[in-house]
Amino acid sequence: MPATALHCRICETQHALEAVGTCPRCFGPLDPVYDWDEVERTFTREAIAAGPSSIWRYAPLLPVAPAAESRLAPGLTPLVPAPRLADALGLGELWLKLDTANPTHSFKDRVVAVAAAKARELGLETLACSSTGNLANAVAARAAAEGMEAVVFCPFDLEPEKLLATAVYGATIYAVRGSYDHCSRLTVELSFELDWAFVNVTLRSYYAEGSKTLAYEIAEQLGWEAPDAVICPIASGALFSKIGQGFGELRRLGLVDAKPRLYGGQAEGCSPVATAFADGGRVQPVRPATVARSLAIGNPADGDFAVAAAHGTGGAIYAVAEGEVVENMSLLAETTGVFGETAPGVTVGALRRAVDAGELGESDRVVLLVTGDGLKTPEHVADRCRPVEIEPNADRVLERLAAA
Ligand SMILES: Cc1ncc(COP(=O)(O)O)c(C=O)c1O
Ligand SMILES: [Zn+2]
Repeated sequence: MPATALHCRICETQHALEAVGTCPRCFGPLDPVYDWDEVERTFTREAIAAGPSSIWRYAPLLPVAPAAESRLAPGLTPLVPAPRLADALGLGELWLKLDTANPTHSFKDRVVAVAAAKARELGLETLACSSTGNLANAVAARAAAEGMEAVVFCPFDLEPEKLLATAVYGATIYAVRGSYDHCSRLTVELSFELDWAFVNVTLRSYYAEGSKTLAYEIAEQLGWEAPDAVICPIASGALFSKIGQGFGELRRLGLVDAKPRLYGGQAEGCSPVATAFADGGRVQPVRPATVARSLAIGNPADGDFAVAAAHGTGGAIYAVAEGEVVENMSLLAETTGVFGETAPGVTVGALRRAVDAGELGESDRVVLLVTGDGLKTPEHVADRCRPVEIEPNADRVLERLAAA
């Protein structure tokens, strides 16, 4: 395992590979650093192809050793062409990265698998998090698979399907009377008091690295080529910035040549990162009011880094109108057969904005991330469900067809 230390993105000091969420000196975010001689030796196309069918095939660039026995391992999700959606939007080549195929149907299984491996290494027995829903599902399932306890803190008014898909694994759910940002602050405070593995607080440096595997997989599945653009939803901004980092690492290793432009999307009712991108300033916290509950983070920890990643790759970050989110969920479902949740509704909206702005078109190879499953947010499309009730009689069906 070539990770050697944690490095502060702000003050550049190094720290031991322990459970420290932020730099003890300046509270900046910490990233694992790797022994690049070792990475160059071990992170090769051949070694990866011979590795497990999961994120652990990229172990030399993950900050923790894979478990000896891999349980419910996420990753290597399908990358599928979407020609009908490409036509509808005016694109030449569009691919969907189906992270709904992970064990709890979102990309969060990737980050939790890495954080949980670190928790086990440190001998911690309880996995905990603050969550807008998907992370809670992933923490609860991972704890069940590993024989750990799970405790999650979610806003009290989360979609019931997200709470249910956490409860079923035996997790303790605290339904916090407040927003996600209250849950987040609560877990930061509790992390000083409790010997728990707070995956997105004390283990955040390890957790966030799990997102990079999306970049690695996209490149590998395209035959070790980078696409022209990747379209990604933004809440905390960690996923977006880590995808930028992932492609940067592949370039450093000579595994891909090009740098994809990164386009991000936020729903208008919670768009602090899109606003900062548009205004050219720093991210200012907002009070979320959006249909896209999974993206409802008003004070995004990695927001400024996401803005930097968009600028650094020649991409952009868009705010998508609230009314368009559900419309886009339907468009995605009807043109691809993929039922994404509200977050992909936002992501499709960002793609539309990039096409409308002339940033993307016929000549681009584009990958859109489907990060979460529509079966967890079904109420938004409930009005589309209008079954024709009929007697079990073929003549009745034929009569209706003739009348139509
Ligand atoms: C389905 C889905 N997509 C995207 C995101 C955004 O991830 P990040 O907080 O890393 O920006 C989330 C966050 O919860 C999510 O649940
Ligand atoms: Zn620092």
